[in-house]
Amino acid sequence: MDFFELASNRRSVRIYEPGLQISDSDLKKIFETVILSPSSFNIQHWRFIVVRDRERKIALRGLAFGQAQVEEAAAVVLVCGRLSAYDDAARIYADVDEVTREKYLPMIEGAYKDQSELQREEVMRSGSLAAMSLMYAAKAIGWDSGPMIGFDAAGVGAMLKLDGDTIPVMMVVLGKADVSAQSRRSYRRPVSEVVTLEGFDGDALI
Ligand SMILES: Cc1cc2nc3c(=O)[nH]c(=O)nc-3n(C[C@H](O)[C@H](O)[C@H](O)COP(=O)(O)O)c2cc1C
Repeated sequence: MDFFELASNRRSVRIYEPGLQISDSDLKKIFETVILSPSSFNIQHWRFIVVRDRERKIALRGLAFGQAQVEEAAAVVLVCGRLSAYDDAARIYADVDEVTREKYLPMIEGAYKDQSELQREEVMRSGSLAAMSLMYAAKAIGWDSGPMIGFDAAGVGAMLKLDGDTIPVMMVVLGKADVSAQSRRSYRRPVSEVVTLEGFDGDALI
């Protein structure tokens, strides 16, 4: 499957074949690609918690307003991000030349220290890009997925014991779509509505 076919075949799946297991090696394959996602200053704010245990998935379903896919999927991934991840910049830039390091480390600290709103925005941006990588990488090895924000973030955070610095970005459920419930592609705004050239009021891309 080439990339365009893969992207065209991906759906937010809500009905899964129950009882399937996803192996550590499939997860490893997926996450080896996820960690290649881009992030601002390469800070890699992301953190992922994978839940496969049935009782825990049932508890998460309760915190996700009863959405059945949380229980029926093979795994629930809580995509999170660390607000203080910028603090690791010295480690992340340890193997670059000194000139680059001297340039970027103060810039990163200056941008994020005490900037709680920007810290949160970056967590959401990086985490969302990682979540998209997760869904495409999963699809590439035969797993369907569904992104979700319909859950009690505080409740899920407490259940999964997030530390105070780490916040949920979204859930992504992974499983195999129940083929009898295959969904058609939902409505898309056309390219000509969402893309303009050179400015907001420019010509639409036809
Ligand atoms: C951030 C985000 C949160 C979402 N939350 C939910 C959710 O809680 N439950 C759900 O069934 N679908 C959820 N969706 C899936 C969207 O409804 C879906 O992506 C959209 O309808 C387009 O369908 P498609 O992904 O199959 O093309 C979410 C998608 C995103 C990106």
